[in-house]
Amino acid sequence: MTNAKTDTIVILDFGSQYTQLIARRVREQNIFSLIHPYSISLGEIRKVEPKGIILSGSPCNVYQKNAPIPDPGIFSLGVPILGICYGLQLIGHLFQGTVKNVKKREYGPACLKVDRNEDLFHGLPKEIDCWMSHGDQVIKLGKDFDRIAHTRTSPIAGFRDTKRRIYGVQFHPEVTHTPLGHKIFHNFLYRICRVKREWTPRSFVRESIRSICKQVGTGRVVLGLSGGVDSSVTAALLHRAIGSELTCIFVDNGLLRLGERERVRRTFREHFRMKLRIVDASKEFLKALRGVEDPERKRKIIGRTFVRVFEQEAKKLGRVSFLGQGTLYPDVIESVSFHGGPTQTIKSHHNVGGLPRKMRLKLIEPLRELFKDEVRRIGRTLRLPKEVVDRQPFPGPGLAVRILGSVTKERCDLLRQADWIVIDEMKKAGLYYRLWQSFAVLLPVKSVGVMGDERTYEHVIAIRAVTSQDAMTADWARIPNDVLSRISNRIMNEVHRVNRVCYDISSKPPATIEWE
Ligand code: XMP
Repeated sequence: MTNAKTDTIVILDFGSQYTQLIARRVREQNIFSLIHPYSISLGEIRKVEPKGIILSGSPCNVYQKNAPIPDPGIFSLGVPILGICYGLQLIGHLFQGTVKNVKKREYGPACLKVDRNEDLFHGLPKEIDCWMSHGDQVIKLGKDFDRIAHTRTSPIAGFRDTKRRIYGVQFHPEVTHTPLGHKIFHNFLYRICRVKREWTPRSFVRESIRSICKQVGTGRVVLGLSGGVDSSVTAALLHRAIGSELTCIFVDNGLLRLGERERVRRTFREHFRMKLRIVDASKEFLKALRGVEDPERKRKIIGRTFVRVFEQEAKKLGRVSFLGQGTLYPDVIESVSFHGGPTQTIKSHHNVGGLPRKMRLKLIEPLRELFKDEVRRIGRTLRLPKEVVDRQPFPGPGLAVRILGSVTKERCDLLRQADWIVIDEMKKAGLYYRLWQSFAVLLPVKSVGVMGDERTYEHVIAIRAVTSQDAMTADWARIPNDVLSRISNRIMNEVHRVNRVCYDISSKPPATIEWE
């Protein structure tokens, strides 16, 4: 899906760990951005009609054999270019400057002295904090370039060629350690690229609807609705565009949270009046999982069963041409190596259990250019309830990954109740939306307890609550003792056959968020 009506910035990726951050910073200025591998052809770039191009950093250096070099034609497109770190060195190198390896790698915070607080640095003070991470630097500029900033160790930490509108910064304005980085992006976008047509949730929804209608025509779409944020927003967007030509299928696999099926029914069928088929396949899933303890096997069985059930149900709909999916931009970017070819190499990612291959449906993925927080903003624009938009992530294989050992209906029911108590108490304490995740885990052991005068030998529940930005790393949440105490008391009193509750104090790494 392209946003043809909004101004677009192309980011060429040279393999920096910060490339996604650059895209986000641009979008935070309400301007649409797209990441492409540096090797994209000039023709492909032209098709996007970018208002500006940003060259990312890289683990490479410009002198090495096979250094990543873009099509030099980008400098003749007549659009402004900003090089960041390697991007700056690349410009220096290609325009007859001198790039040299410095003996000591400059890494960490630095004080940037702004020589020219005009255009790119308009409105900045004479000195700003910035973040450096480089081993090479430009020590001599080519003709037509002049220096606009330096640091104690980098004689040229920023340059410009105002005629051709080519700019470079050695530091990283995209990281939070450069606190005024957002002003630099703002200047590049609004002063230098002169962008006008802003990208907002409203404009995204408008353009998406137009594009979905064009793509779908008179065809019909089926969507696997899990109740999670991505599939819910996809459903709401598709429904806005094509109404009753969309049918959602919600598969109850018996591994859902308490009341989930009812919540989905209320929100999508009653509130949004969508065509929604609810399939109770819990018996089928639990039968397939019987006696299976290995987590990877559980995942495979659940994935396969989902595809089978979904296919059966979708067949009942008659002629359908499209399968909607809630694929997000990080999945898309991940599958495009910066060494790889142009975007055509992007492979399809599968949410909710995978694409039913035999159905030969065309994919429709209206969120494939969005980051998670942007999906949430779109969800709010589409008036999805907070409970859906801001909910904590829930794994596709559901409670099966939180039941260690074999999965049975009894164990699912037990965990469902304990999990509900955790959610309920976290919400009452105002913590639920501040945590990345908070949930209960059923352990595969029993322990001795005492109730009344009787010895018991019952189940153990672990509580997991973490804070995180992106689930790549996570810290265990410092939940107030009184909240933990309430959760423990309630689980022990309300959930039959549990006599012990533990709190998990491990961070990721070395632990993971889920126990599996
Ligand atoms: P781990 O346990 O690897 O989990 O630290 C990282 C994040 O991923 C979620 N998760 C999944 N989400 N399908 C999903 O949609 C899955 O199969 C799946 N497995 C784990 C997990 O809840 C955490 O947020």
